[in-house]
Amino acid sequence: MTTKNLISITELSTQEIEELIACAQDIIAEPDKYADKCRRKKLATLFFEPSTRTRLSFEAAMLELGGSVLGFSEAASSSASKGESVSDTAITVSCYADIIAMRHPKEGAPLVAGLSAGVPVINAGDGGHNHPTQTLTDLLTIFREKGRLGNLKIGCCGDLKFGRTVHSLVEACARYEGNSFVLISPEELRVPDNIKTNVLERSGIDYIETDNWDALPELDILYMTRVQRERFFNEADYLRLKDEFILTADRLENAKSDLSILHPLPRVNEIEKAVDNDPRACYFKQALNGKYIRMALILKLLGVD
Ligand code: CP
Repeated sequence: MTTKNLISITELSTQEIEELIACAQDIIAEPDKYADKCRRKKLATLFFEPSTRTRLSFEAAMLELGGSVLGFSEAASSSASKGESVSDTAITVSCYADIIAMRHPKEGAPLVAGLSAGVPVINAGDGGHNHPTQTLTDLLTIFREKGRLGNLKIGCCGDLKFGRTVHSLVEACARYEGNSFVLISPEELRVPDNIKTNVLERSGIDYIETDNWDALPELDILYMTRVQRERFFNEADYLRLKDEFILTADRLENAKSDLSILHPLPRVNEIEKAVDNDPRACYFKQALNGKYIRMALILKLLGVD
């Protein structure tokens, strides 16, 4: 890969994304082939913000490649709590690990880490900014479910303002021909203008913004998101908006029979539990795909054949 670090999905060419997907598919088909690829390699997971899927799937990925993991899961148990900078942390951890996955509440922190670290740094989510490995997970899931990444009508629903996964997914899917977007959210939680202008409009992608479910029957993909309580300045606004879009089993009656429902998770209440039994629900398969695509990414960034 041309990049040493992965901070944003924009750093990957379409060809590199497709190579990662192909590698993940091969890992899924023949896991034994990869069981020893990272023997004696160490992954450090530096998580300054909570996570279940991203941290544990990174760790599972490295363990399944035959490597080892070390790290911390909260800032309080690192020397950041004593005032150590992100840069110094990255330089120090480079002494102990071959690759770093970092989540941080501050936008740009993994970029800063990547500039100082002596080993590859992967952005595992920085504030409301980027979450490139989630996007790779989403793309792998879409590819496995639909057999293609283009010619899809993609609905994104929920918190499209703070939901970093939506921003990166829009950026990635805008590269493929024939995709269009239906952006379903309360007015206050719409996709930021810079993404509409710099990504959708610049790429000539069709999209509509709406505050209702009317387009659900036309969708090939429905990408649900939770309202991101931790990014609100005002609790009253969160409480007012959090229940505006809840996907129920009843609502799905008019959706396509081959709709794929994705969600980066964690879910709060925006998808009714009954939907989990619907064959169109893909979000737990998506969580599993996250491990395979991270295995592929670790291999590529470490230059393991
Ligand atoms: N999708 C995702 O980033 O989940 P976690 O916050 O649990 O890592």
